Amino acid sequence: MQARHTFSIPLMRPIVDEEMLQAALFSLQNEKLVMGESVYKFEEEFARYCGVRQAVSTASGTAALQIALQSMGIEGNDEVITTPFSFFATSNAVIHAGAEPRFADVENDGFNLDPHKVEARLTPKTRAIIPVHLYGHPARMDEFRDLADDKGISIIEDACQAHGAEFNGKRVGSLGHVGCFSFYTSKNMTVCGDGGMIVTNDEQVADAARSFRDCGRTSRYTMQRIGYTSRLNTVNAAIGRVQLRRLDKWNEARRKIAKIYRTELEGAGGVELPPTETPGVTPVYHLFVVRSNHRDQLSLHLEKNGVEAAIHYPIPIHLQAPYRTRYGYLEGSFPQAERLAGRVLSLPIQPAITEGEVRTVSRLVRDPTISE
Ligand SMILES: Cc1ncc(COP(=O)(O)O)c(C=O)c1O
Repeated sequence: MQARHTFSIPLMRPIVDEEMLQAALFSLQNEKLVMGESVYKFEEEFARYCGVRQAVSTASGTAALQIALQSMGIEGNDEVITTPFSFFATSNAVIHAGAEPRFADVENDGFNLDPHKVEARLTPKTRAIIPVHLYGHPARMDEFRDLADDKGISIIEDACQAHGAEFNGKRVGSLGHVGCFSFYTSKNMTVCGDGGMIVTNDEQVADAARSFRDCGRTSRYTMQRIGYTSRLNTVNAAIGRVQLRRLDKWNEARRKIAKIYRTELEGAGGVELPPTETPGVTPVYHLFVVRSNHRDQLSLHLEKNGVEAAIHYPIPIHLQAPYRTRYGYLEGSFPQAERLAGRVLSLPIQPAITEGEVRTVSRLVRDPTISE
């Protein structure tokens, strides 16, 4: 068996407190284990939190994206434009839904999909755009809306890394036609397992999604579509409700940690910091990602000193084997995404990390034997 490396400063760590344990226990002892009351309450509360009318929980963020696409009738020859620099579930969901993912490159100075590059990739078959609020930093939603609205193209926000982030005073998830979230254990809030959520103001899409996630049912014995068993378990919803109540406080803590990193790493040779909080843009620092031409050396240096770092993501989606095979992508297809893949490094960030730990990590990052 391979030994598990334990780090004195881990990258991230889910928080499970007494109230969550009690909520889980209560749910297991008193509720229907599937589609119990906590599921509906969690959906109501999450919709309210995002500022939308409808929320439909699912078994994962990937399922949320796939079901959202299918609920909007996106299929067959329809094209969906998204970023090649994300977790590969984003574009996998398009393929699962039966449609065709098309990529546009990311911003030259940030991590998110570039609206101008998307514009150049639009075709008459484009039905939707999926901007990803990568690392918890909101994508340029006003520009995506301008691009899509008058052409009848839908925007599906992949907010799987951005619970609670805001753009021009509105929470992500409420800015497009549909928003999708993941509650996987590493996220800013988790259901302590897999889980996801679709949020929207479109009642028809929400109804279709409720049916898709529950085998295609419209009532107990009536099937309207070929659906999935993709429900959120009740016990996970019960935990999610408590986590949601902590989310704003945790996000505030993450922003404070990011601020300390910025102060500590300001001017560090060869280390580029993440995009800053511009007016109207409130990120939630799911990850604190620096860029360095010495990324691998830096990563090793941190690891040797007990600090866990990670690379999100070392291979852009279009260069992963199934995409190369299916679509024939080669190196050079999306240069900006490829450049980021070689330079990004995620430093530890989580609400419970101490100021001292952040300074320790920063000191290691600033080590002059590594930087240029
Ligand atoms: C940007 C992004 N999209 C989609 C997903 C898929 O979510 P899940 O792992 O819950 O299926 C994730 C998370 O893992 C993600 O980070």
